[in-house]
Amino acid sequence: MLNDAIRTTQYGPTTKQSRIRTDSLQLTTKATMNDDLGFDLSGRTAVITGGYGTLGGSMAEHLTKAGVRVGVLGRRREPAEEKAAELQEHGPDALPLVANVLDEEALEEAKATVLEEWGQLDILINAAGGNVAEARTGDGRSIFDVPKEAFREVVELNLDGTVLPTQAFGEIMAEQGEGSIVNISSMAAHRAITEVPGYSPAKAGVENFTKWMAVEAAQEFGEEVRVNAVAPGFFIAKQNRDVMLNPDGSYTKRTKTVLQNTPMDRLGDPDELGGVVHWLCSDAASFVTGVVIPVDGGFNAFSGV
Ligand SMILES: NC(=O)c1ccc[n+]([C@@H]2O[C@H](COP(=O)([O-])OP(=O)(O)OC[C@H]3O[C@@H](n4cnc5c(N)ncnc54)[C@H](OP(=O)(O)O)[C@@H]3O)[C@@H](O)[C@H]2O)c1
Repeated sequence: MLNDAIRTTQYGPTTKQSRIRTDSLQLTTKATMNDDLGFDLSGRTAVITGGYGTLGGSMAEHLTKAGVRVGVLGRRREPAEEKAAELQEHGPDALPLVANVLDEEALEEAKATVLEEWGQLDILINAAGGNVAEARTGDGRSIFDVPKEAFREVVELNLDGTVLPTQAFGEIMAEQGEGSIVNISSMAAHRAITEVPGYSPAKAGVENFTKWMAVEAAQEFGEEVRVNAVAPGFFIAKQNRDVMLNPDGSYTKRTKTVLQNTPMDRLGDPDELGGVVHWLCSDAASFVTGVVIPVDGGFNAFSGV
């Protein structure tokens, strides 16, 4: 959130042109003038879809430690309540929110709960998603065997499941004139990852929507509504455990291939996503919108040679 006093005295009128200054004294940015360097998130509120999942849950813990009140959204009440209770022990407040990200009515109810409890929403992380087993190829199944229902399901979960919460919760940010949305993409959006013909275009769609929404937000709702994405590399999670690990816990052939193509030669730890998400949601990223940041141990950069 911009410090209005600083903005007025240092930048003058808050037009885009007035913020482009050339002399060295005035090159000081809004962020560096803040005591906290712009990284302070305390007092803010967030909704994390997939908030009790592996990656969403880890981001929820990070934001809680940073003093953010976190709404944990997922389809099942019990794990949402458990996660919210766990977060409450370590931070200011947490809310369980029960909704399917494809159910507009349930999302509207979750939105009403957030507004009733906190009266504001500063951060939305769209982390609900993942592949759908029936939409996989491999093990003798080719692209011609993928049922269209399974293909649709995985595209809907990841793409519509990002767009619909953005419509519901993003509207609060549009009205406030500030807020930060972080979508969760995947390496599958950038290059062909075998066996996931539906997940890949769905995540490519998430990245395209991230850019589209960033432009819409900046032009229609003001520069303080920002939309970015994180593209995680490979992490062991609930939805991919069986694909990444053999029953005895050793890496599958596929995981070994992933490691061969990851210069750091290891999988990610979910906690390694927190720092990037934190930065993207903070004032330190005030001029950053429409970007996708890989957190992948170099996978995205590597040619394989
Ligand atoms: N793990 C990786 O290596 C990796 C890599 C790149 C990207 N990602 C992405 O990271 C995100 C988080 O995945 P994860 O790996 O942490 O998997 P996860 O542990 O299975 O978490 C997924 C979460 O999404 C929730 N969810 C699923 N369908 C939902 C729906 N229709 N409505 C509301 N919530 C729903 C799940 O809860 P319920 O099913 O109980 O609702 C669960 O909490 C996903 O978008 C995934 O595609 C993961």
